[in-house]
Amino acid sequence: MTIQNVLVTGGAGYIGSHLVDELVSRGYEVTVLDNLEPQVHRSGTWPSYANPRARYVRGDVRDRAVFEPLVLDAQAVVHFAAAVSIGQSMYQIDRYVDVNTRGTALLLDILVNRPHRVEKLIVASSIGVYGEGAYECATCGPVAPTIRPETQLAARDWEQRCPVCHGHVRSVPTPESKPLWRDNIYSMTKYHQEEMVLLIGRTYGIPAVAARFFNVYGPRQSLSNPYAGVAAIWLSRLLNGKPPVVFEDGGQLRDFVSIHDVVDCLVLMLEHSGADYLPVNIGSGGTVTILDIARLLKTLLDSPIEPLVTNTGRTFDIRHNTADISRARETLGYAPKVSLDRGFAELIEWAKTTPDVAVDFFDAALEELQQKGLLVKS
Ligand SMILES: NC(=O)c1ccc[n+]([C@@H]2O[C@H](COP(=O)([O-])OP(=O)(O)OC[C@H]3O[C@@H](n4cnc5c(N)ncnc54)[C@H](O)[C@@H]3O)[C@@H](O)[C@H]2O)c1
Ligand SMILES: [Zn+2]
Repeated sequence: MTIQNVLVTGGAGYIGSHLVDELVSRGYEVTVLDNLEPQVHRSGTWPSYANPRARYVRGDVRDRAVFEPLVLDAQAVVHFAAAVSIGQSMYQIDRYVDVNTRGTALLLDILVNRPHRVEKLIVASSIGVYGEGAYECATCGPVAPTIRPETQLAARDWEQRCPVCHGHVRSVPTPESKPLWRDNIYSMTKYHQEEMVLLIGRTYGIPAVAARFFNVYGPRQSLSNPYAGVAAIWLSRLLNGKPPVVFEDGGQLRDFVSIHDVVDCLVLMLEHSGADYLPVNIGSGGTVTILDIARLLKTLLDSPIEPLVTNTGRTFDIRHNTADISRARETLGYAPKVSLDRGFAELIEWAKTTPDVAVDFFDAALEELQQKGLLVKS
């Protein structure tokens, strides 16, 4: 039987809503379960971009009475509902574990204990499950260093060191086989979500895929959420006449992937079996420093405001992580198409015209980190 009905949890959010649009345009019947988390949806109502051809149910993924009938009705479940900030997860531990880990546990509990017809399960995982990316030591070969000690950050010795010989190491693209390491509570919950989904998928023969998103950017990312992705936070700062705050020296390498390429890859996961039962990186395959991203935003906005490079670190940050996308290419035929220049130009055009005002709450969020002792003292 081919899949026709898809349940997207968190489908009012940034990534989910783009997927909903694509699925609807491909003729799927789509149901969204979303509780309109106030930190993301400040108006408390369905966003203006909600797709009129999808069905929207307001409810919490921790509420069995709401979740169960929707799961039993679906032929595929795309599970995106989550609390999503790394920094915040370090002091809202109960909430992060409850929404992310227990919400997923409930989904799986329904699937194994009730007669269902789900033929595909896709869970949103994250670059965060790796901790640091993959590295190569000139002397020792491939190595997997973990979080940098606070003394190293306080000395502003930003680059990672080899766990064996302690020399500096070079960042290389991270394959799915890299040993995993979680540096924060959010990433632990993402790890638990993907492990649970893949385990139950394998055990009960429900084709399951864990989508390891790298840095996804594009229209609809909340500009007023100081806990959202870095590109949206900086864009919001610039639109409010304030400098983007760049931690360390700005040389951190990341893979920024356009939302359109992400949606392409998710549709391939839904419609094809090549990646079933596997975790799969979704990135662009490219590499860029975060300072270059801050400068690109400044240039595209034609703003006079320079990024503020702090030369200080946060205790839980990684140095580099970029995506090796060979698995998605080989198992699904994924081929990212959107260049950084084109993708960021689109983001800016949207930000200039969006009715949702970009309110900058970043300073308050930074103050919270300071109070919790999560900024490195120097
Ligand atoms: N944006 C990225 O770069 C990125 C990177 C890695 C992983 N992810 C993962 O992708 C998924 C989607 O992220 P996003 O960027 O679209 O975030 P988002 O905050 O825009 O969307 C999440 C949605 O989930 C909803 N939600 C939150 N808690 C809920 C609950 N208890 N019950 C029901 N709905 C709830 C929110 O209202 C929101 O609409 C998340 O699981 C996130 O962890 C995103
Ligand atoms: Zn070495």
